Amino acid sequence: MDIEYVRSKFQKHFNGEAGSVYASPGRINLIGEHTDYNGGFVFPGAVDKGMVAEIKPNGTDKVRAYSIDLKDYTEFGLNEADAPHASWARYIFGVCREMIKRGVEVKGFDTAFSGDVPLGAGMSSSAALESTYAFALNELFGDNKIDKFELAKVGQATEHNYCGVNCGIMDQFASVFGKAGHLIRLDCRSLEYQYFPFNPKGYKLVLLDSVVKHELASSAYNKRRQSCESAVAAIAKKYPNVEFLRDCTMDMLNEAKADISEEDYKRAEYVIGEIQRVLDVCDALERGDYETVGQKMFETHYGMSKLYEVSCEELDFLNDIAFDCGVTGSRVMGGGFGGCTINLVKDELYETFIKTAKDRFNEKFGHYPKVYDVVISDGSRKLI
Ligand code: GLA
Repeated sequence: MDIEYVRSKFQKHFNGEAGSVYASPGRINLIGEHTDYNGGFVFPGAVDKGMVAEIKPNGTDKVRAYSIDLKDYTEFGLNEADAPHASWARYIFGVCREMIKRGVEVKGFDTAFSGDVPLGAGMSSSAALESTYAFALNELFGDNKIDKFELAKVGQATEHNYCGVNCGIMDQFASVFGKAGHLIRLDCRSLEYQYFPFNPKGYKLVLLDSVVKHELASSAYNKRRQSCESAVAAIAKKYPNVEFLRDCTMDMLNEAKADISEEDYKRAEYVIGEIQRVLDVCDALERGDYETVGQKMFETHYGMSKLYEVSCEELDFLNDIAFDCGVTGSRVMGGGFGGCTINLVKDELYETFIKTAKDRFNEKFGHYPKVYDVVISDGSRKLI
């Protein structure tokens, strides 16, 4: 995340004095996928890649925004009818609107931003962008009156209301609350969270990016969420207190099986298993038992691939290579439909694994996967 670079572009583009510079990270998630909108647990951490934005109030009622990476410029007003067309700008517009809805008197500003969190890799580049602006607008126009949880919810509501993705809270939460060297277990129902130091001796966490992003990922994501809600509605006929799949056991799901489509049943089966796996992984980490952590990661991959069906050929292939190489744990990370696998690898296997994965992937798909070593870092902040 290069402050000087963003600064120089901002000044060149807006021909004026410096503003303030803010940053927010992307995230990894060790385990707990598609559990957030089911009231379950997630276990993410912020990474050392993210978004950096320079922002300066401009005394008008217009936002003038420049995407340095896309070399694209747009202007928009702050009323509901002023939504810009460019999808990158809708994130900024959505954050402005959500802050206004929460009583912050957002005024016009000039801004330029850039990021090094890869787009479409399942590392939440969009949450990084939302958190950056939510954090900045709170400081510049809101006297910091919005608390950190609400800032995360501003990002989530932006996805729901302006970008068409009915996401959970994990990505924005991790981006705002990240802490160097720590993963965070979040209970997405009660919103209680706990930091876990994460520095596995003798292992590395590495992401392999398939560089594949499937079309329709957001509509498929929304469809998964609907399946979970349908399963809950069927179970709730007998158990009226059930609100989320978090409240359900496999026995309860089986009792309602006749009222649930085969597809929705598989989705719910995955989620119920995954919520338990997060707790199992936390226990295993407390014992320093990385073999169990890894085994759970493989189980998650199986569930995401065969039951939840959010993997793809490239990611299944990367997962198989990890297994063949004796990697401790590996699975598709994030929403799925492309993006990365996250791999827990013993130090001594690291070089061979990366080389084998690159060569075999290239042989089959004609391009190399990208490799990102994970460095767990701090959340949203002001840089200057
Ligand atoms: C995306 C969403 C998150 C979460 C993950 C899957 O990243 O934005 O809310 O549901 O997928 O765990």
